[in-house]
Amino acid sequence: MRSLFKTMLITGTMLAGTAGISHATDVEVLHWWTSGGEAAALNVLKEDLSTKGIGWVDMPVAGGGGEAAMTALRARVTAGDPPTAVQMLGFDILDWAEQGALGNLDEVATAEGWDKVVPEALQKFSKYDGHWIAAPVNVHSTNWVWINKAALDAAGGKAPESWDELVAVLDKMKANGITPLAHGGQPWQDATVFDGVVLSKGNDFYKKAFIDLDEATLTGPDMADAFDRLIKLRSYADDNFSGRDWNLASAMVIEGKAGMQMMGDWAKGEFLKAGKKPGEDFVCIRFPGTQGSVTFNSDQFAMFNVSGDDKIKAQMAMASSIESPKFQSAFNVVKGSVPARTDVPNTDFDDCGKKGMQDLAEASSAGSLFGSMAHGHAAPAAVKNAVYDVVTKAFNGGFKDGAEAAKALGEAVAAAK
Ligand code: BGC
Repeated sequence: MRSLFKTMLITGTMLAGTAGISHATDVEVLHWWTSGGEAAALNVLKEDLSTKGIGWVDMPVAGGGGEAAMTALRARVTAGDPPTAVQMLGFDILDWAEQGALGNLDEVATAEGWDKVVPEALQKFSKYDGHWIAAPVNVHSTNWVWINKAALDAAGGKAPESWDELVAVLDKMKANGITPLAHGGQPWQDATVFDGVVLSKGNDFYKKAFIDLDEATLTGPDMADAFDRLIKLRSYADDNFSGRDWNLASAMVIEGKAGMQMMGDWAKGEFLKAGKKPGEDFVCIRFPGTQGSVTFNSDQFAMFNVSGDDKIKAQMAMASSIESPKFQSAFNVVKGSVPARTDVPNTDFDDCGKKGMQDLAEASSAGSLFGSMAHGHAAPAAVKNAVYDVVTKAFNGGFKDGAEAAKALGEAVAAAK
């Protein structure tokens, strides 16, 4: 493993060298932004840093949700050679902070007043023991559905607002001869769909099940019903869904081969990259029955303990760039997410982005903003992985019914917490 990463590092440095760019200091950045839309957003960050004299050594580890990236990270840290900055989600950040592996960003955070502008829900993961340990880039949310506009028009033209309406639209799309649901069968994608399904059964239910990890809720009749809904959704995917990457599922919707995809708003980045326009080519809606509520995840750059003053300086400069309101707008417009600070104007965002910003603000003040289980913001990794296992088994027909899946979920979570 390690030698592979060293090779990547050396190659990255050589490329920077051959391009004739000489930077005072480089940052080596581990991330999983490898799809077309993600790479476009990453470029906004790279270019912004480059204008500040900070070079970029790329360490991409493909795989949505970041599981593979986190495995690669562990190998690097164990070898005593952590990357400078690492894309990370929720509880993983706190985990590394607890192990004393992260640097302290207080100086730049205090100078720039991050406390006042970064929403509390994010600060919970950007700070440890009162100190800033990560710079939030964005706020994504998982309870979205991306629908091909022409396919929706052919299916009656009305975006579904409830479970029953959703099923009716999926049935019409099937009758119209397209794959109703574009899905990639990977545990994190199954779990992303399940975030929306669970939330569609109510805010209290989501909170008790996924935030409080209440056993009676995890095993009860509502959870059984949530699993039955998930199992029903599987019947709308095509036969080749297993193992498919999420961006290929997005492409099916973009090309009109499939009707819709249930996916976080990074999917919008793919639509935009393909030149598609919200309202004209595609429609963005909250998972039916979840309007008013948001399951969020925030990509943050955690800065690892590194030695050398100029490396630390580069980390601080990177953190400062990331938090600048101008960057927050430019990056998130491309990424599909919304800003990680509350004072960024929505002017440059498209209608889905504007809706995302408004939904987030409303959910935040209404108490209906929850961390995404699928993307590491509801529970620590051990619990998340236990949920992944059961959800994936359920999606793939491994249980006789939803009730059996709910029982397994309660057991798996109890064993993991
Ligand atoms: C990240 C997004 C990313 C998506 C798919 C999520 O966990 O928060 O930034 O685009 O995974 O790779």
